[in-house]
Amino acid sequence: MEKKVALITGGTSGIGFAIAEKLAQQGINIIIISSSYESLDSAVIRLSVYDVSVTKIYGDLSEGVNIPDIIKRVLASTDRLDFFVNNAGLAKFASIESYKPEDFDALFDFNVKVPFLFIQAFVPLLRMSKGSIVNISTYWSHKMIKGRHSSLYSASRGAMVSMIKALANELSEEDIRINAVAPGSTQTETFINWKSSLSDDALDEFEKELKNSYPIARLGEPFEIANAVFFLLSDQANWITGQILNVDGGFTIR
Ligand SMILES: NC(=O)c1ccc[n+]([C@@H]2O[C@H](COP(=O)([O-])OP(=O)(O)OC[C@H]3O[C@@H](n4cnc5c(N)ncnc54)[C@H](OP(=O)(O)O)[C@@H]3O)[C@@H](O)[C@H]2O)c1
Repeated sequence: MEKKVALITGGTSGIGFAIAEKLAQQGINIIIISSSYESLDSAVIRLSVYDVSVTKIYGDLSEGVNIPDIIKRVLASTDRLDFFVNNAGLAKFASIESYKPEDFDALFDFNVKVPFLFIQAFVPLLRMSKGSIVNISTYWSHKMIKGRHSSLYSASRGAMVSMIKALANELSEEDIRINAVAPGSTQTETFINWKSSLSDDALDEFEKELKNSYPIARLGEPFEIANAVFFLLSDQANWITGQILNVDGGFTIR
């Protein structure tokens, strides 16, 4: 039987790589996009232990001018697409007075416009496969943290959530499902680097805060996010669309 095909943006590290690995373990051919040739090569090597094809596509998703060309190269690389995982995202935290006008465009372009243009371009293939889409969102669309200012970032993620619900309403007519996973703080390379930049006092404070705010008092692991993404993509979730699944150790219920 012909293998299914999944496209993952930012599939070279952190949550995106864990998703690529989970799908490769299920025998699904993988296409990954990232903005570094080096990290693409490294991801391809790490995924080569699985019996699937891995296609790497270089592209910087923060540059709007690149998007039509990236889409063209994805479409040239496959005539089949079963799953699209929009994982890569841009975060910037600042106060209302510190955000700059260009931050508005950068956050909305990366977190809303790019996913929109990708989904629009991939609908014909997803229609043929009765495919499924998962966007990686974040709790910042619906839960705020005292002292951490996020108006523009949260607005861009909120826009993505509204788009997912509207697209679920529309694309169900095509037998395409679309959902989101909203991770809590997850131990990706980026997160680990951020933690290692903290002073001892700040790290102690962080650990204390973690225990207070997460009912399951630890950070998430990338594979735990990937498990939820796989569930939503799979036939096991055939009656689920337009949903935002919080995978966050209970963070958002406290
Ligand atoms: N980690 C968390 O705690 C957490 C919590 C909530 C939500 N999230 C969300 O989960 C998603 C993944 O996060 P992560 O922590 O796994 O991030 P990460 O470790 O920083 O990985 C990001 C991925 O995106 C790619 N990427 C970054 N900038 C890119 C660009 N301009 N063009 C193309 N690809 C780009 C990276 O590859 P290159 O650098 O090679 O381009 C990498 O493959 C994001 O949307 C993030 O907001 C994460």
